[in-house]
Amino acid sequence: MPTVPLSETVASLIPRARAELAELVSFASVADARQFPKSECEKAAAWVAAALRDEGFQDVALLDTPDGTQSVYGFLPGPAEAPTVLLYAHYDVQPPLDESAWLSPPFELTERDGRWYGRGAADCKGGLLMHFTALRALKEHGGVPLNIKVIVEGSEEQGTGGLERYAEEHPELLAADTVVIGDVGNFRLGLPTVTSSLRGMVLMEVRVATLEGNLHSGQFGGAAPDALGALIHMLASLRDETGATTIDGLDGTGEWSGLGYAEEDFRRDAKVLDGVELLGNGTIPDRLWARPAVTVIGIDAPPVVGATPSVQAAAGALVSLRVPPGFDVGKTARALTEHLRAAAPWGARVEVTLRGSGQPFAADTFSPAYRAMAEAMREAYDEEMAVAGQGGSIPLCNTLATLYPRAEILLIGLSEPGAQIHAVNESLSPQEFERMSLTEALFLLRYAASQSAGQGV
Ligand code: BES
Ligand code: MN
Repeated sequence: MPTVPLSETVASLIPRARAELAELVSFASVADARQFPKSECEKAAAWVAAALRDEGFQDVALLDTPDGTQSVYGFLPGPAEAPTVLLYAHYDVQPPLDESAWLSPPFELTERDGRWYGRGAADCKGGLLMHFTALRALKEHGGVPLNIKVIVEGSEEQGTGGLERYAEEHPELLAADTVVIGDVGNFRLGLPTVTSSLRGMVLMEVRVATLEGNLHSGQFGGAAPDALGALIHMLASLRDETGATTIDGLDGTGEWSGLGYAEEDFRRDAKVLDGVELLGNGTIPDRLWARPAVTVIGIDAPPVVGATPSVQAAAGALVSLRVPPGFDVGKTARALTEHLRAAAPWGARVEVTLRGSGQPFAADTFSPAYRAMAEAMREAYDEEMAVAGQGGSIPLCNTLATLYPRAEILLIGLSEPGAQIHAVNESLSPQEFERMSLTEALFLLRYAASQSAGQGV
């Protein structure tokens, strides 16, 4: 065993992790074949499988899941009596959006101002390498004292449920005593955080049709039913005048008890322009973590350049609706569908199609593994562990909690506010990567020790 501290071993592993992150980021693994060739996801999956084999994992497999994407699985056996820990990450990423708005190419990991830029650097390819770095450090310090399963999903960002359905059909596969989801992040840079709640999400496409074809807006406008106008009217009905989400049948009065989030901190994290107001009411955590929130994330309508003076015959939108723990996404999807139908003016024809969904999740942060995590975070950061909510979604969490009700589920990761995940110029803080890798290694050690003590060994 080396005499150097674990922190130094982790530090010595960073150059390798960075080189591997550059390889992983080079795959445009967006799990939407309409936007990127499927081969990019296949290359990323193959990379993950090879990396698991190199680490000594057994039973490494590319799992064909029902949504057509592959998840990668591997098992690293530990001491016979040791508990099993499942480590989760996803290799798929969000599309780069406007590539010209990136200061460096989205699929080339680039260092700038002390951060590593690239699509998926923080969400969640860095999370996968955090798991690897923690395991490698432990191997240099006497071995990994646990049975480790790794599962790396290929369509998390789509909400199409491939791995969730696969896990339900193979309930033994991901069984574990404890799960570490490496796909969330610290409340702010340098503040070690576990996430106690995730919102669920419904992704709904709405299409409106009113005419057989577009019409001259001078000759017909004023009486001809305008499909884009109808859509705007329907979408506007999803909020009140403060901007709070108001969907018939959905309670918007939930309150968050726990960590606070000052308005000025939120304004800074969200980069809100001076003079522009925030939406909704209640505290910021109420709005982010305890209430439904609707966002129109895409509209099919003529772009301004090239638009003609026409009344539109058809229009469409994609709507994202987040709901906190306590809501069921099936019921939420029905409420949204009915609300949109009821809000359609002028007898416009409306088609509403569910495109994706995931259930919300609430962790039991008083379970024993959280004590080990609190110790690990304190040691790695010299700061007390914070417990925060999170408004984003990771649908598999609910599936795991349902399949394995006794498993402890911990959510950590690299997506602090500065990472700007899902936006252009996503980046990873290398310091955060190093400290979170150390945190995870320390956690695995402490957790293994606490379990063997608990068993009276
Ligand atoms: N890593 C995110 C979840 C997240 C969001 C963590 C914000 C920390 C901060 C995850 O990859 C994600 O974005 N999930 C999707 C899932 C959806 C399509 C069902 C999301 O939340 O939009
Ligand atoms: Mn993610």
